[in-house]
Amino acid sequence: MPIDVAARVIANRPLSSDYNVLALDAPAIARDAAPGQFVMLKPGAGHDPLLRRPFSVFEILRDAGGTPSGISILSKHIGPSTGLIYGARVDQTIDCLGPLGRPFTIVDPPAEGWMIAGGVGLAPFATLAQSLRARGVTATLFYGARRAAELFYLDFFRALGVELVLTTEDGSLGERGRIVAPLDRRLASLDRASPVMLYACGPEGMLAATAKTAMKHGRACQVSVERIMGCGLGGCYSCVVPMRSDTGGFHHVRSCISGPVLAADRIMWE
Ligand SMILES: Cc1cc2nc3c(=O)[nH]c(=O)nc-3n(C[C@H](O)[C@H](O)[C@H](O)COP(=O)(O)OP(=O)(O)OC[C@H]3O[C@@H](n4cnc5c(N)ncnc54)[C@H](O)[C@@H]3O)c2cc1C
Ligand code: FES
Repeated sequence: MPIDVAARVIANRPLSSDYNVLALDAPAIARDAAPGQFVMLKPGAGHDPLLRRPFSVFEILRDAGGTPSGISILSKHIGPSTGLIYGARVDQTIDCLGPLGRPFTIVDPPAEGWMIAGGVGLAPFATLAQSLRARGVTATLFYGARRAAELFYLDFFRALGVELVLTTEDGSLGERGRIVAPLDRRLASLDRASPVMLYACGPEGMLAATAKTAMKHGRACQVSVERIMGCGLGGCYSCVVPMRSDTGGFHHVRSCISGPVLAADRIMWE
């Protein structure tokens, strides 16, 4: 069951001029959150912005004894709510509802887990990488951004033993170009008998290209979709995604409750 708390800001760490990591004191949410789930945050006290905004749970914070004590959010400033999150002060409170949505399905060895992240789409993969590695799954992170300064937490993933494949659009780190190119090559060279699960999160175009690539190589792929979400609870229908039906037609699902993690080969990509 999701719970609604007025979460105290424990820390707010800027990573760049528009990215930050916000740590929230929310033990009950931290205890129940699974990789891929999200929270709805209302960082402002007034009516503007009126509605909460969805954010992936980035990290589960733990106290000295290892008990979950809070969550962190990796946020990219694009508008009013993310602006308030960027400027949040320690000890202020932020309304936080969660954990919400369906999490990733986590594979077991010998299957490998390949995570494909575009920009702030990195957010659900810190907890997913920890869960994969805790099960002994060999994990790879394909991570693309515009420039080197927008590739974050690389040492965090390296310390977990996750292989990194990096791309930047300006070529300042890793391969120049989009992240789907090395993914496509790696899938083409992978033995057909080697099981792998793909997990993707990022801009819609990147998700569509990843889904197409996964289908081309006959590989399963779970995508975390980003729709505008008015409520996060299934009540407003602002977040619908068209999905292929078994009968040959299509139907819409509310991505806040049927997702945000959905099977890539069932989505009707435009
Ligand atoms: C399940 C889920 C998890 C998310 N996790 C994160 C996260 O971990 N970190 C993070 O920084 N962001 C995340 N987002 C996106 C985040 O919710 C938006 O950036 C935020 O709502 C913007 O709020 P705002 O008030 O700052 O800007 P707004 O004024 O609401 O939006 C600014 C502009 O961006 C567009 N926009 C807003 N939300 C989205 C969206 N979801 N998809 C496409 N365009 C959008 C608006 O139409 C508008 O043009 C997630 C979204 C979803 C659905
Ligand atoms: S966000 Fe309201 S129904 Fe999904």
